[in-house]
Amino acid sequence: MGSQADPPERRDVELVDAGDGRRLERFGSRLVDRPAAIALGPRLAPSAWTAIDLRYDASDGWTGSADRSEPWTVEVRGLTLELRATASGGVGLYPEHAANLAWLEARVRERLSGSPSRGSGAPGEDAPAVLNLFAHTGLATLAVARAGAAVAHVDAARASIAWARRNAALSGLEDRPIRWLVDDARAFVEREGRRGRRYAGFVIDPPSFGRAESGRWSLRDDLGALLDACGRVAAEDAFVLLTAHTTGLDPEPMLDAVARAFGRRPGEPTAQRLALAAESGAILELGWAIRLA
Ligand SMILES: C[S@@+](CC[C@H](N)C(=O)[O-])C[C@H]1O[C@@H](n2cnc3c(N)ncnc32)[C@H](O)[C@@H]1O
Repeated sequence: MGSQADPPERRDVELVDAGDGRRLERFGSRLVDRPAAIALGPRLAPSAWTAIDLRYDASDGWTGSADRSEPWTVEVRGLTLELRATASGGVGLYPEHAANLAWLEARVRERLSGSPSRGSGAPGEDAPAVLNLFAHTGLATLAVARAGAAVAHVDAARASIAWARRNAALSGLEDRPIRWLVDDARAFVEREGRRGRRYAGFVIDPPSFGRAESGRWSLRDDLGALLDACGRVAAEDAFVLLTAHTTGLDPEPMLDAVARAFGRRPGEPTAQRLALAAESGAILELGWAIRLA
């Protein structure tokens, strides 16, 4: 072992423990206790649960010693994000998504290093175009924009777009080539198809249920058609990250749908679990990430 070992990475956001149907997470200065139906076992670090700042229950909403109307900030992979206690029990960040950022950044850099006028210095020149659908508060948008991509950031909720723009400003990335689009994911992709646009990369993070221009969005019923529409606006070697924060989902149909939509062989996309692991030993399995490089 070398004597110059890197110091352990300080994590601003971490799962502290889980159990008895709840998850305990540190989000920067705040320790947050929320429901987690999949945390079936007992708590492994019971003493950690005594100092919580915010607690969410579907029946009582947010309680705890911290001011729940006040936003606060955290650092994730060098990006600064504003968090808020939202009415639905979220905080504006899905921490399990962060494990995909290094992979996404690497895909953008690969495409930049293959570009003919690399290094010309103009911001956005030859930037690979990345489409981020269901882009929420912008974690993936900011990571790929910082790596050099030009991003179309699409979310149906105006408030999410405003929040993502604040995160861009907090992270010093407000001058990056990002198009902020309040739109329905599928309607937007189909319009891009009619305009003849092509994308080098896709980040697709649909909820289990949501709203859609056509009525209601359902992951199970609507994902195939959305992926097919994405395939029609994809460059030949486009990269794809499809994540589903839906527990109990079988990744095989998602793998097949990605391979079919993007014209690759079955087996080419790979599936990774979206999971969080705590130092206490607790593990939360929160869905799947499908990657196509
Ligand atoms: C699961 S969250 C995305 C999580 C996010 N990518 C992250 O890691 O922080 C779902 C997002 O999809 C948006 N949404 C729901 N239905 C939509 C639709 N039909 N078109 C576009 N965005 C939609 C919601 O407004 C919300 O911001």
